[in-house]
Amino acid sequence: MHIALGADHAGFHLKDSLKRTLDELGVTYEDFGTNTAASVDYPDFAQAVARGVAGGQFERGILVCGTGIGMAIAANKVPGIRSAAIVDTDTAKLSREHNDLNVLTLGARVTPEVRAREIVKVFLATPFEGGRHSQRVNKIEGA
Ligand code: RB5
Repeated sequence: MHIALGADHAGFHLKDSLKRTLDELGVTYEDFGTNTAASVDYPDFAQAVARGVAGGQFERGILVCGTGIGMAIAANKVPGIRSAAIVDTDTAKLSREHNDLNVLTLGARVTPEVRAREIVKVFLATPFEGGRHSQRVNKIEGA
């Protein structure tokens, strides 16, 4: 699996930590930044990652900001993206099984690092269930 990663200044430390999780899992990634504490605008990174996923260059995306909320709002503006701010492993699993979430967002100021790593593992390991959920996801996409 090939993953697009992005963060703003509030999320870049957690993004770096998540790279170690991806390395352990053998998952490859491209890091779209940011990589410093200098203040940046989260939509710039959300759009870069979301466009990469929507365009098929990446299977999934992971974005980190302070809360995960701004990143999810921005990513969802890109057609084909299904993004949500996830704060626990239960909803991480259900977001894959029922919603085919393709861009996970995390909040570095609200989610502890250990839990964020577990959420990422579940997000990457859980398949979409399809079936009745496919018709619902298709309706989101306007099909
Ligand atoms: C940056 O201060 C903060 O607003 C941003 O990281 C994010 O939490 C927005 O949703």
